[in-house]
Amino acid sequence: MQGVARNFFTLAIVYAIFGMILGLAMSISQDHTQMPVHAHAMVAGWLMSAVFAFFYHLFPAARASRLAPLHFWLTAVSGIALMVGLFFLLGGNATVEPLVAIASLGFFLAIFVFAWIALPVIRPTEAGERPARVDFR
Ligand code: HEM
Ligand code: HEM
Repeated sequence: MQGVARNFFTLAIVYAIFGMILGLAMSISQDHTQMPVHAHAMVAGWLMSAVFAFFYHLFPAARASRLAPLHFWLTAVSGIALMVGLFFLLGGNATVEPLVAIASLGFFLAIFVFAWIALPVIRPTEAGERPARVDFR
């Protein structure tokens, strides 16, 4: 894996580790207050970042896009801010609510950046019905 593909996969692993630690802490303490943080860290963090990683791995044309680093950094920074903010919000600290709101919008915006990068890449080319430049290296 190279470039943003590798970055996304590393990010996915970080989410998986922290998300599972939180899941175990919830199970052991029998306090499920942080369930939304765990659920989003596992699904929107680990699974989504891994999907992005494999997409960029399989489609070098997407990885070569100048917008790909923007997609990675916007997803990473807003996603981590969202998880950390939500953790404190659910812990009873209401002052972090604006951070959670801004981070949610950043995370939402990032999916449009991804759509802008990914959709042209998967369109069939004129030469055939295969998407452009699929490379299984
Ligand atoms: C060490 C491994 C894990 C532990 C100890 C753990 C523990 C938990 C606990 C205690 C809950 C709260 C259940 C409730 O309050 O109803 C939960 C919910 C959840 N977990 Fe995990 N979990 C683990 C791994 C995972 C993984 C690998 C995923 C997904 C890839 C995942 C996704 C979810 C989701 C989506 C929910 C929310 C379910 C709902 O909406 O009811 N968890 N987990
Ligand atoms: C802008 C981004 C997002 C926002 C603001 C958001 C917000 C929410 C809210 C408010 C809930 C209900 C929580 C509750 O009732 O306790 C929820 C639940 C859930 N969301 Fe999201 N979500 C976002 C993105 C995502 C993404 C991208 C995924 C998966 C790829 C996802 C997966 C889930 C799951 C599995 C649940 C059920 C578990 C739970 O109740 O915590 N969310 N989300």
